[in-house]
Amino acid sequence: MDGDISEITGGLTLDEKLRLVHGAVDPDGKATGYLPGVDRVGVPPLSLVDGPLGVRASGERATAFPASVALAASWRPSLARRFGRALAGEAAAHGQDIVLAPGVNIARVPHGGRNFEYYGEDPYLTARTGVAVIDGLESEGVAATVKHFVANNQETNRYDVSAAVSERALREIYLPAFRAAVEEADVTSVMTAYNRVNGTHMSDHGYLLSDVLKGEWGFDGFVVSDWWGTRSTVAAARAGLDVEMPGIDPEEFVPTDIDVDDVPEAMPPVPDVPALFGDPLREAVESGELDEAVVDEKVARVLRGTASIGRFDEEPAGELDAAAHRELAREIATEGAVLLRNDGTLPLGDVGSLAVIGPNADRAKLGGGGSSEVSPFTRTSPVEGLEAREVSVTVERGVPPVSESRMFGAESDEEGPDPSIDDAVDAAAAADCAVVVVQDDATEFRDRPDLGLPGRQDDLVEAVAGVADRTVVVLRTSGPVEMPWLDAVDAVLETWYPGQADGDALADLLFGDAEPGGRLPTTFGRSAADYPASDETAFPGVNDVARYDEGVFVGYRYFDERDVRPAFPFGHGLSYTSFAYGQPSVTEDGDGFAVAVPVENTGDRRGKTVVQVYAQKAAAPVPTPERELVGFEATTLEAGERRTPEVSVARSEFEYYDEQTGWTLASGENALFVGRSARDIVAEIGVSVR
Ligand code: NOJ
Repeated sequence: MDGDISEITGGLTLDEKLRLVHGAVDPDGKATGYLPGVDRVGVPPLSLVDGPLGVRASGERATAFPASVALAASWRPSLARRFGRALAGEAAAHGQDIVLAPGVNIARVPHGGRNFEYYGEDPYLTARTGVAVIDGLESEGVAATVKHFVANNQETNRYDVSAAVSERALREIYLPAFRAAVEEADVTSVMTAYNRVNGTHMSDHGYLLSDVLKGEWGFDGFVVSDWWGTRSTVAAARAGLDVEMPGIDPEEFVPTDIDVDDVPEAMPPVPDVPALFGDPLREAVESGELDEAVVDEKVARVLRGTASIGRFDEEPAGELDAAAHRELAREIATEGAVLLRNDGTLPLGDVGSLAVIGPNADRAKLGGGGSSEVSPFTRTSPVEGLEAREVSVTVERGVPPVSESRMFGAESDEEGPDPSIDDAVDAAAAADCAVVVVQDDATEFRDRPDLGLPGRQDDLVEAVAGVADRTVVVLRTSGPVEMPWLDAVDAVLETWYPGQADGDALADLLFGDAEPGGRLPTTFGRSAADYPASDETAFPGVNDVARYDEGVFVGYRYFDERDVRPAFPFGHGLSYTSFAYGQPSVTEDGDGFAVAVPVENTGDRRGKTVVQVYAQKAAAPVPTPERELVGFEATTLEAGERRTPEVSVARSEFEYYDEQTGWTLASGENALFVGRSARDIVAEIGVSVR
């Protein structure tokens, strides 16, 4: 195809070339971004659509899958691949060619308003999940856009904040998932982040876009800006930005599903910049300031992307709201739910009555706010899901509804009598078990102000736990929350934002039809002070600069380095059965190691365990984290079954990034750890690395 591509490019006028490098209005009004193509020479239009939790075609419905953080919590790349395929099917059914997903930014601080759209705090787990989603999407002829390249780790001041981050932290923590997307999944497009990195806006970042992404990693697809994230014309064009989106001035861009009267409030605050790759780019070429070959190269990249998804030949038909997609949404919700604590109350055995309590328990928690919002065809709330079981259910809100930030299609609060904690307490006292459903409110554009549950939800949990025989707390949160009532409750189940299948999945989990398959993709600290976020120079930054002085010590690496005991460590999650781990053995295997871990299901029901392998680069001459995830294998065993899953660990996992010489093997005596979490290590094995 490459020959054809240069032939097509060579036959285009400058105006036609420009049509391929900046967005335009979608005549169907459904797409988030649109490239009109060049009909004269058979270049088809491309429609780009959000996003990571399901397809957000304007004014349309689609399957609302659980939040990305739940998918990561499944520790099952095979599930992520199936999700990618389903997402592609839904995009194609809506006539969309490119999905603006996955988001692979690292949850550097738990406040991050978009952490629910990402895969947690660890680069390895994020890379495995992201690669699988991209593979799934692209195998169905729909392009993925991995985003937001790079260091988009907060929403506060997101258009201007500069991440002051070391090269080593970039290479070891923030870039690996992007690199894997390019080198392993051959992703079609990469979206630049809004923010700056070490002083330069990402759309202008020649070093990261041209030298690293396109040069070192050999990325041959196209780089698209975030919406109004382009900051210059010639500099961005030279730096390696290929496509400007949406390519329309902010005041002309009115998403069709937002009521025009509401636009001032509903429109996201966008950077105040005009379209820069249309007329300004033409002028730069015509005046001789920019060589037309620079534009040609961008065109070739867009055409390669078009060819890579087969769009010169066919449009996949896709499938929307298929029964299999509904089932998959439910499966991800259960596979990603993390049982944080359980004194044996779960699964619920012979309960006759449940008090279902919580300000929003009568509503499915679809997702967080922003561009990832999806309007589903169907949804089930926790109340509906539990009422469908053979058990008597009483329902009390307890405290007023927690508002849910939504940008597209606000959810209206139902009118009703003022809820009271006393009524909730009465209901809890009268039932066999109280299920308290609580939630946070996370959204694009805003970071969470603190890690407390909004409103008086903590008081509610405390009061209910004080009277109930048994109290199960169901968290529907974007990430860690403080749990001052932790010791007073019997079980805590984190379901993240479970999407349309919320209530059905919750009933499956509580009654034990499914076990909570999730393990934490992010550390749950006891309080905000546990993270590198307690100082404003680190987060949200001072004078437009956020200092990433923690370096590579992000997430559990930070907790380990500071010796802070988390509430629940990275990788943690309980099962409804129990597992015994035997002594692992390590053998050299090609370009790495094979770690074989005997596991036995010692309980009386089928269940899942996630064998986790961490490395310590003890031989490195620089400070390195105590442990870093380098491999894992989720495996499901019948009661009494034994198996020996093998986890392969690439030798390159023992490399660190030397700021002078680049990737360097920590040759010498290092260590591997096998564990059930980053803090529950069952074996340490020395390995010699050469
Ligand atoms: C801005 C968001 O940062 C990005 O993730 C999204 O894809 C675009 N808007 C388009 O909605």
